[in-house]
Amino acid sequence: MIRPDLLAKYDIAAPRYTSYPTVPYWTVEQPSAEAWFERVQRAAETERDISLYIHLPFCESLCTYCGCNKHITKNHAVEIPYLRAVLREWKLYRAALPGRPVLRELHLGGGTPTFFQPEHLRWLLESIFEDVEIPLGAHFGFEAHPNSTTEAHLRTLYELRFRRVSIGVQDFDDGLMQLVNRQQTAEEVLRCTETARQVGYHSINYDLIFGLPRQTEVHIQRDADYLEQLRPDRIAFYSYAHVPWLKQSQTAYSEADLPGGAAKRRLYEAGRERLEGMGYLEIGMDHFALPTDTLSLALEHGTLHRNFMGYTPMRTPLMIGLGASAIGDTWNAFAQNEKTIAGYQLALDAGRLPVFRGHFLTEQDRRMRKHILQLMTRDETTWFWPEEQDEILPAVLARLEQLAEDGLVELEPFRVRVTAAGRPFLRNICMAFDAHYWAKQPEGKLFSQAV
Ligand SMILES: C[S@@+](CC[C@H](N)C(=O)[O-])C[C@H]1O[C@@H](n2cnc3c(N)ncnc32)[C@H](O)[C@@H]1O
Repeated sequence: MIRPDLLAKYDIAAPRYTSYPTVPYWTVEQPSAEAWFERVQRAAETERDISLYIHLPFCESLCTYCGCNKHITKNHAVEIPYLRAVLREWKLYRAALPGRPVLRELHLGGGTPTFFQPEHLRWLLESIFEDVEIPLGAHFGFEAHPNSTTEAHLRTLYELRFRRVSIGVQDFDDGLMQLVNRQQTAEEVLRCTETARQVGYHSINYDLIFGLPRQTEVHIQRDADYLEQLRPDRIAFYSYAHVPWLKQSQTAYSEADLPGGAAKRRLYEAGRERLEGMGYLEIGMDHFALPTDTLSLALEHGTLHRNFMGYTPMRTPLMIGLGASAIGDTWNAFAQNEKTIAGYQLALDAGRLPVFRGHFLTEQDRRMRKHILQLMTRDETTWFWPEEQDEILPAVLARLEQLAEDGLVELEPFRVRVTAAGRPFLRNICMAFDAHYWAKQPEGKLFSQAV
């Protein structure tokens, strides 16, 4: 049971830290394509391994809770021109990568990747695979919407070496899904899971959300019954992010219907208890995996990593993002693509990388990034003062001392460790290291609530 006084104090707007610095604090408004390209080239000089994220933004209908970057259409004529632009973008990056890059990780995200016809996806991927090396044990996965994922999608992507599928479940209650305009039934989730297993996928992830409008503990218990029966290898149990100032569709339901604060956290705790009872391990923030899954093994071996795609078992220093709104990461720089499809395609028609904002990390950014990442993946971080002389460290320590007084962390001279009471507040604990946030606290709303 979470302490009410802690909840009152720490359930504030806080970043999810999929990057550090967080996107609102990136400083380069219009990074020149050349400057970003040079960073990619430099990263590729020392590393042949790359991760690729491809954003496929179309969805046939709008799920009103959705916080992702997407474009709603039923017109499938958009597929080929979009994929052509993605291939143009890949060609531009390819020129920065010497020799044959080793593609360690590939993720198709959305939007809805299964909006695209399987043969169109085959064309895209075979064109990219022509000049990369794909090592044994590469991690290839895609996001599957159960209502549009066909056996042909699953077979085609399996032939293209995909072994992981992430199924968007959200909640198994059909009525709750109708309320947020998600066209999906529990029956479709079962069918998608069964077909994926028959085809040969050995890693199945479910995305679930707690905190949806009118969701109660009864729903979470029923979701857990389904999970007991279906046993996916991994579960992302996301906290519903309510950001109506960014996503207008979230005003389609009443805020009074949203479980908040203690009620919302109870949904998570109810889910966690059931999942741990079934043998799942809690991984980082909001994730669970069976002990045999590579995420659990990575946690055990200290190699767990987190990037824009989520938790992953390994770290690839160079991540290239293709597609509208996709983000690339060279470890010392980030860049994000144009968010609109028209803007994205126009830039590529003109033969230039479609980046529209980014950030080049300073030494201090890199140090703070490492601490935040370690907290998110290992629940602790250590530092060595003489090497990390930094003018902001006294302020970081003062914030950590405050968290230690509230029992959220244990603080030693060179180490901070998250306690069981601190786990619900991992985002707040990471904030202690967020130099940008404390230098200029946001005036308007930027982030969703911490709990
Ligand atoms: C790009 S979306 C899903 C892909 C696919 N279109 C689908 O709906 O199945 C990735 C995941 O983000 C999560 N998500 C989307 N909006 C969210 C929000 N407002 N709060 C928390 N999680 C959210 C959902 O769990 C979703 O499955």
